[in-house]
Amino acid sequence: MKTYKIALLPGDGIGRDVTEAAKAVLEKAAARSGFSFAASSYPWSCDYYLEHGSMMPANGIETLSSFDAILLGAVGWPRKVPDSVSLHGLLLPIRKAFVQYANIRPHRLLPGVQGPLRSENFDILCIRENTEGEYSGAGGRVHQGTDSEVAVETSIFTRKGVERILRFGFEQARARRGKLASVTKSNAQRYSMVFWDEITQRLSAEYPDVEVTSYHIDAMAARMVMAPDSLDVVVASNLFGDILTDLGAAIQGGLGFAASANINPDRSAPSMFEPVHGSAPDIAHLGIANPIAAIWSGAMMLEHLGETAAAAKVMAAIEATTARGIGSVPGKDRTDAITSAVLSALD
Ligand code: IPM
Ligand code: MN
Repeated sequence: MKTYKIALLPGDGIGRDVTEAAKAVLEKAAARSGFSFAASSYPWSCDYYLEHGSMMPANGIETLSSFDAILLGAVGWPRKVPDSVSLHGLLLPIRKAFVQYANIRPHRLLPGVQGPLRSENFDILCIRENTEGEYSGAGGRVHQGTDSEVAVETSIFTRKGVERILRFGFEQARARRGKLASVTKSNAQRYSMVFWDEITQRLSAEYPDVEVTSYHIDAMAARMVMAPDSLDVVVASNLFGDILTDLGAAIQGGLGFAASANINPDRSAPSMFEPVHGSAPDIAHLGIANPIAAIWSGAMMLEHLGETAAAAKVMAAIEATTARGIGSVPGKDRTDAITSAVLSALD
């Protein structure tokens, strides 16, 4: 029997509740499909930081590198550790070290979920560049605390980085409905964003079957609200993709439904799967977090591992659950009740 080595990083807050739920569903789906998981859980989190002075051990990346995939809950507890420290100590270094350059986030309404828009028929796949751009981490501060203080944070766009994420976008569009929206702000940012637009144009010659349109980020934000059904695959830089995917979460009914995959397409290192919602300290430990986003992220992990039949079963179980009105209304059902319903729907 095939066994996949999975690293669990429950992290902080509701990350712990939803990771446990996703693990239970994935294990049952695996058993039904004739494979299994060997899961190892690591307590790396803000609590870990308070005890050890770092978010993960010095050999953390090396430890994770031997796994087939990583399932992450959430990172951050700003009252204990500043977000700028916790995220740069765990989540962001993993994305970079494992070259998880494609952050994929699906936005569509699950059955039974009421979104805030009139349109209910959208099915958008956002692809966010995940290793460079505005999150490159290049910058510094000088003359701190004085009137002359300066803060510089430089976006870095490399030919290699932009080309590979756009290619990934074209490939996804080709496998879906053949439409790619490439998002920049090249009317204002005339170096990096014009560079991105040029590469989009050049690559489009290699994908004559894909209809590609370039949009500015502000216009795309409006389009996602006014005409989401006109979109198929949307590709954007790290920060723009971050913002658009919270908007995507909102139009799909809330962050409790927003799944994501941090993919290393070359498979030279493990990919990482995480719900978009974060640690939600306000509802942590109350047992009311919606595990759907984490379970959906788990289905994306199955897909990535090549277990497409099991992935489809998990998605069908999620959809059967929300269609019955369980987990479909934010805040209505408890984590356990939703998880049990998904588990039963696997039968
Ligand atoms: C996300 C989150 C992270 C990001 C934060 C927590 C650093 O918002 O995954 O969307 O901006 O990438
Ligand atoms: Mn975000």
